[in-house]
Amino acid sequence: MMKLAIGNDHAGVELKKEIMKHLQARGVEVQDFGCQETTSVDYPVYGEKVGRAVAQGGFEGGILICGTGVGISLAANQVKGIRAVVCSEPYTAKMSKLHNNTNVLCFGARVIGVDMAKMITDTWLDTQYEGGRHQKRLDMLEQIEERR
Ligand code: RB5
Repeated sequence: MMKLAIGNDHAGVELKKEIMKHLQARGVEVQDFGCQETTSVDYPVYGEKVGRAVAQGGFEGGILICGTGVGISLAANQVKGIRAVVCSEPYTAKMSKLHNNTNVLCFGARVIGVDMAKMITDTWLDTQYEGGRHQKRLDMLEQIEERR
């Protein structure tokens, strides 16, 4: 069974619940690292939690939600081995898996609707990394991480 980590700040509570239901209906096991209340919290906490959970293995990937998807994706991308992408439409989600082997998908709950987020999630999960010519570039990203 596929296992995903999910997380969110206060802006992402409602969309997180909808995405969790959608994933569970798809037969995906989901572990929730996010906040549960709409009182203000700090997105770096949740981006790091999901980033570390995914980087340590045990999860096929992660989903993160904040107001725009930006802050929480920046946080996740600070974790070594994480390639997080913010998506508002399925094309980027598909290409980000095919070419960039993204392992965390981020949404802006104040940017897109629930149905769009579900469609993007399905596209991302149904797409596999192509490898080949793209691997050299991912290796180059890893080398940047080493130089930090
Ligand atoms: C919180 O108001 C908001 O700044 C946060 O959810 C996110 O959009 C940051 O990038």
